[in-house]
Amino acid sequence: MSVLDGKELRIVGFLCNWCSYGGADTAGVARATQPTDLRIIRVPCSGRVDPLFVIKALLGGADGVLVSGCHPRDCHYAAGNFYARRRLEVLKQFLPVLGIDDRRFEYTWVSASEGQRWQQVVTLFTERIHKLGPAPQLEDAEPLLRVADMALTALRPLGTGQKAALDELKAAVKAKLPELDCVIGWQQGRDAAHTVPLFMRTPEDVDKLVWGPFNVNNPAVYLPSFKGKKVGIVVKGCDSRSVVELLQENLIRREDVTIFSLPCEGTLDMARVDQELGRYKIIDKVEYDEAGVTVTADGTAHRFCMTDCAQGKCYGCAMPSAVLADESFGTPVQVTPGDAAPPELALLDSMTLAERLSFWRGQMERCLRCYACRNACPMCVCRDYCVSDSRDPHWMTQEDSAREKLFFQTIHALHLAGRCTGCGECQRACPVGIPILALRQQIARAVAQLFDGYRPGCNPDDVPPLLGYEVVEKNILERDWK
Ligand code: FES
Repeated sequence: MSVLDGKELRIVGFLCNWCSYGGADTAGVARATQPTDLRIIRVPCSGRVDPLFVIKALLGGADGVLVSGCHPRDCHYAAGNFYARRRLEVLKQFLPVLGIDDRRFEYTWVSASEGQRWQQVVTLFTERIHKLGPAPQLEDAEPLLRVADMALTALRPLGTGQKAALDELKAAVKAKLPELDCVIGWQQGRDAAHTVPLFMRTPEDVDKLVWGPFNVNNPAVYLPSFKGKKVGIVVKGCDSRSVVELLQENLIRREDVTIFSLPCEGTLDMARVDQELGRYKIIDKVEYDEAGVTVTADGTAHRFCMTDCAQGKCYGCAMPSAVLADESFGTPVQVTPGDAAPPELALLDSMTLAERLSFWRGQMERCLRCYACRNACPMCVCRDYCVSDSRDPHWMTQEDSAREKLFFQTIHALHLAGRCTGCGECQRACPVGIPILALRQQIARAVAQLFDGYRPGCNPDDVPPLLGYEVVEKNILERDWK
């Protein structure tokens, strides 16, 4: 049945004012026959289309979304569509991890004189959406809870870091302390099986510095709040990438930051540790060996082997040593990067689209909307104007629904596109253990494929790919609807 005769579906079109909107107008003036499913929203430029618009439409019940702008090199604002092309391509590759068929989203270029091309684009896209049928809705999906299998990922050597040169590090920090306002590291928390951030201002503070698998926090999250001050930081490999990304984005200045590093042998998944320890009154002792940690609580010994209880991000970590440091101690750990997907992403890869939608429905029903994921993220720097708090525009309601929560998570992930260093703080901070790092890992995979293996936070001189463009993109095919 022709799409002109069938039941209408809900398709949202974001059209640039200067070209595609004119193209649609030209088609209308020429009385070109078109399907009527498309609801057009006029935007000043395709560069104005935030992926948030597309996600909002798709999660809100649209069966398809079409973005159309001026042809490359014809943008009224010179480069809006070049920036849009990168963002929208990353978005297209991201949608399947949510359980949304990427064929439901398309972007293209139509000029004001191309009424015929507009007719072709809108007819072909509407036909495609009719073939796919109405979009499955998150609210209709049956909640599905599955846990990632850590054995899916190739292991790298893990340990407890007890041979690390901690004394040398402390001596170096003490020597440098008079020139700095503060040095950030870790100290023992409520007991020897937990750590909290340490802000060292005196030599006595430095003596509290600890190193080991309980150093789970990423201290780089505090760096922007010290902007303009001289500050030191002790980092693991993944933390150092966050520092480099902050430098790349000019959120801190290199001359203000002194980086101390030790090679990391892995950190523990504290959610699993706390679950195993259960309720206890007192930690009697914590004993380390090469393979793991034995924690004795209320007289009962609990064994945490690194190969079983490390954080998911540590299993396939390719950068256990700092990518940038002023003072490094110990021998850098060399790891051969593998191409296996991280465990949580591998779990999603093994599911169908319908299962992924059910998976996120189940996970989002557990979300408390506490925003700990946002607050722990070192790269989430617009907290003063976060979409979750903004009332003008009012992007998010206070509704306690899986859809609103998934909307927030996807926006958070997309704001980190090409910026997330994979430190996993979002997932670690989540009090109910939702594997939200997988969303960022899918984007990181798409960014690496599209931009020649780009990995955020590796070189302070790199420009994050979504902050730039190429006139001719090597790995992004031009949209052709012939
Ligand atoms: Fe049309 Fe920028 S003005 S895409």
